[in-house]
Amino acid sequence: MQYRQFGSLDWKVSALGFGAMRLPVLSDDHSKINEPEAMKMMRHAIDAGVNYVDTAYTYHQEQSEHFVGKVLKDGYREKVRLATKMPCWLINEKADFDHYLEEQMNRLDVDQLDFYLLHALNKKQWQKCQELGVVSWAEKRMSEGLFNHFCFSFHDEYPVFEAIVQAYDNWAMAQIQYNYVDVNYQAGRKGLKLAADRGLAVVVMEPLRGGRIAKNPPPASVARMWEKSDRNWSPAAWAFHWLWDQPEVSTALSGMSKMIEVEENLETASGSTVEKLTAEDHALIEKVREVYFSLAPIPCTECEYCLPCPSGVAIPRIFNIYNDSVAYEAWNNGRNSYNEFIKAEARADKCVECGECEEACPQNIKIMDWLARAHEMLAKPKE
Ligand SMILES: NC(=O)c1ccc[n+]([C@@H]2O[C@H](COP(=O)([O-])OP(=O)(O)OC[C@H]3O[C@@H](n4cnc5c(N)ncnc54)[C@H](OP(=O)(O)O)[C@@H]3O)[C@@H](O)[C@H]2O)c1
Ligand code: SF4
Ligand code: SF4
Repeated sequence: MQYRQFGSLDWKVSALGFGAMRLPVLSDDHSKINEPEAMKMMRHAIDAGVNYVDTAYTYHQEQSEHFVGKVLKDGYREKVRLATKMPCWLINEKADFDHYLEEQMNRLDVDQLDFYLLHALNKKQWQKCQELGVVSWAEKRMSEGLFNHFCFSFHDEYPVFEAIVQAYDNWAMAQIQYNYVDVNYQAGRKGLKLAADRGLAVVVMEPLRGGRIAKNPPPASVARMWEKSDRNWSPAAWAFHWLWDQPEVSTALSGMSKMIEVEENLETASGSTVEKLTAEDHALIEKVREVYFSLAPIPCTECEYCLPCPSGVAIPRIFNIYNDSVAYEAWNNGRNSYNEFIKAEARADKCVECGECEEACPQNIKIMDWLARAHEMLAKPKE
């Protein structure tokens, strides 16, 4: 494992961090974590040197923290720094800060957290948290030893990121969505540099764009691009090396859902260094980025923040089928999947345009418009 500087802290973090958001599950029900398998995966990663674990109140329908608490028994708590996140969108009054922190520490069964993040900050949530005095609350709880460092994860435009970073001098870290496709998206490269210049560690989430840029084999047009290099890296390895090439990136969190992914990502991380990529590598990645932009029209990362839809629409699954139909030019497969795997009551035409999902979407996707388009294309008979 390679280790990297973590902002201004006197500590080095593993290049690869474990995100407990996409653990293996027993069925389509994401609350049913396949615990024996997920336990093996997480402990194997920690045994191999991963020293950063990330979870949140809402992951796996509120089961992730309970499960991570079990993983960190038997001496594993001492081997990692643990991060979890306050669900800002559920906060209504100041007393809720303590309510969630206490509940989360109980779920995790720990006396102290290393990093406590405001989850998925955007302009509205930050304003609300500030008005409720979140910074002075956090400083008090840190002085009492409940958590060591106050941080935030972010989903909004760059100016909001800049305002949040500058609003408090003691942020230890910012967690941002960053990958070779989303270079100028949300905080983006500009936000990465700003945070690092101010001494914040930067933890990267969605390094593989939720798995979308790690498909192996990739779409034919992308595969042709990668073949131009003699690197012999998988699509996931290209994405990670692009991140670790940059000194401002502290760690890349991966939400691994299979042991084979853990193995591969550990191996990639152990071969990582800053400035590993050549000018030719960068030029090639730039071209692949352009191809991907043209291939996947809906920038959905399958984070599921839009769920549950009050009308039961299976938003991310429909977007996934639509994007893959476009990327692979596989409309008949897409129509099959739509008809076979999405129940009639969860299809896009059940949307009543209440707008709740668009409020929740960190990617600011025009969900209602895309649902209408997806239904128009996917509900057609096969050609
Ligand atoms: N704070 C926030 O707002 C927020 C939002 C999103 C994520 N996060 C955190 O950040 C973590 C990382 O984000 P993410 O889970 O979206 O990460 P990601 O690495 O972009 O996507 C994870 C997915 O990539 C695929 N994958 C992983 N390794 C692979 C490999 N070697 N080869 C092929 N596919 C591979 C898997 O997909 P398959 O299942 O298809 O195999 C996996 O489910 C999360 O787990 C969570 O802890 C935070
Ligand atoms: S706008 Fe449509 S898809 Fe979105 S939450 Fe409302 S009913 Fe569901
Ligand atoms: S539509 Fe938005 S909120 Fe819903 S899964 Fe996709 S990215 Fe997440």
